[in-house]
Amino acid sequence: MSLFLKKPISTLMAESAESEKSLKRTLTAGSLIALGIGAIIGAGLFVRTAAAAAEYAGPSVTFGFIVAAIGCALAGLCYAELSSSIPIAGSAYTYTYATMGELMAWIIGWDLILEYAVGAATVGIAWSEYLNNLLINVFGLKAIPYEWCHSPFQTSVDGTAHGLINLPALAIVIILTMLLIKGTQESALVNGIIVITKVTIVVLIIILGWQFIKPENHTPYIPAPTTYVDHEGISHNFGGIMGILGAAGVVFFAFIGFDAVSTTAQEAKNPKRDMPIGILGSLAICTILYILFAHVLTGIATTEDFRTTGKEASVVFAIHKYMIGYGWLGKLVTVAILAGFSSVILVMLLGQSRVFYSMSRDGLLPKVFSEIHPKYKTPYKASWFILILVGLFAAFVPGDIVGDMTSIGTLFAFILVCVAVIVLRKTDPELKREFKTPWVPFVPILGIVVCGAMIFGLGWTNWLRLFVWLFIGLIIYFTYSKKNSVLQNKSVILDPVDPIKPKF
Ligand code: ALA
Repeated sequence: MSLFLKKPISTLMAESAESEKSLKRTLTAGSLIALGIGAIIGAGLFVRTAAAAAEYAGPSVTFGFIVAAIGCALAGLCYAELSSSIPIAGSAYTYTYATMGELMAWIIGWDLILEYAVGAATVGIAWSEYLNNLLINVFGLKAIPYEWCHSPFQTSVDGTAHGLINLPALAIVIILTMLLIKGTQESALVNGIIVITKVTIVVLIIILGWQFIKPENHTPYIPAPTTYVDHEGISHNFGGIMGILGAAGVVFFAFIGFDAVSTTAQEAKNPKRDMPIGILGSLAICTILYILFAHVLTGIATTEDFRTTGKEASVVFAIHKYMIGYGWLGKLVTVAILAGFSSVILVMLLGQSRVFYSMSRDGLLPKVFSEIHPKYKTPYKASWFILILVGLFAAFVPGDIVGDMTSIGTLFAFILVCVAVIVLRKTDPELKREFKTPWVPFVPILGIVVCGAMIFGLGWTNWLRLFVWLFIGLIIYFTYSKKNSVLQNKSVILDPVDPIKPKF
């Protein structure tokens, strides 16, 4: 039994043959760009930007966005090659199974739980912050008591209240899981409306907020290197290059989801031309918006604000405190953000159920995770399990911690994807690639370096969390998955086509 057993690409192709028949080539470069933007603008911009400024970089968080965007662009080009040569659902997990063998595939599948499940919890927690804002500023009600909307590891900035459980974050995850089990998917129309709303509010904040920038808030633009100890006692490298790298790791969260574009290679009209335009186009537009937005936000409010009273729902805080006369904008932003965050959570939960489904079909996770609901045709048991996992993180872990765990986990997955491109070019040079990453191995190697630098910037507490997470994963692999793997176990015949196709 080998740890490096690879899933033959021909088997993957057979598995995907069915789904391929039903996919039509309808997506143009423009629709790919809209898809990318729809999937990525969310809690990363509206919550993590202020956190990165407070803990790592002050105004130079804008440089953090540039570093994160470069890492994403490089990894995105690698993603696109793999997804166009191995066109099957399951994303990076499936690609790795075909290129680097089962153990690496397990590691990446386990790691993707950080991207999707822990990521969904992060956005759920951000949703909870803005719900409080909705209650106070839009409906004129009282805020939910601190203990019911914070994790047990959190204490209010003035030290008077302690968290118990984050009920709103748990509630939104439950509601969206129910919708997902019923097979609800965001329609193209809803996605379109949400994309337009999200971009509009970002542009409005940039244009209207520009006049409220105070030059003193931007001085110095790159703070001198120091150590910042937050009120929970955690220390961060603030300022200088390390601060920028740390901020890049934090705001990297704002780009997560752009890989959604690369998984649509089969549906693109002209993948060779449209995939790079779709990936790089949506990244470029978002990067410009993100940099301008962060420049305005850190110019309106101070770094100290984001460490204290403006720590939560930071964008609306800044509007209410400093943009006098623009209360309406604060209300609009709150409503739009709550809708926008819900769609991001839905996409992440969906992504997680796809990965669990693929891993369960391969025997690496128990078979129940690929059981399909008789009526709704969705992998409902996987969704129930994901709900428990995401719910636990959303209810009991602080947003900063889950946010950084998502970033570090996804960065690690990106590195493995870059490695996979180099490996597959050597082991399978003849493979038909609808899209080829330019300048291999230069682009993948640079991708590894930039993503690695962001992991470095996130600091040792986050490395430790990633390490512990991977260690738990390895224990599960060696005690369960290796023994039950369909590929390792020759007596089990691969069943390439599902009797009941799941509805994703
Ligand atoms: N990029 C997504 C967000 O920022 C995950 O919410």
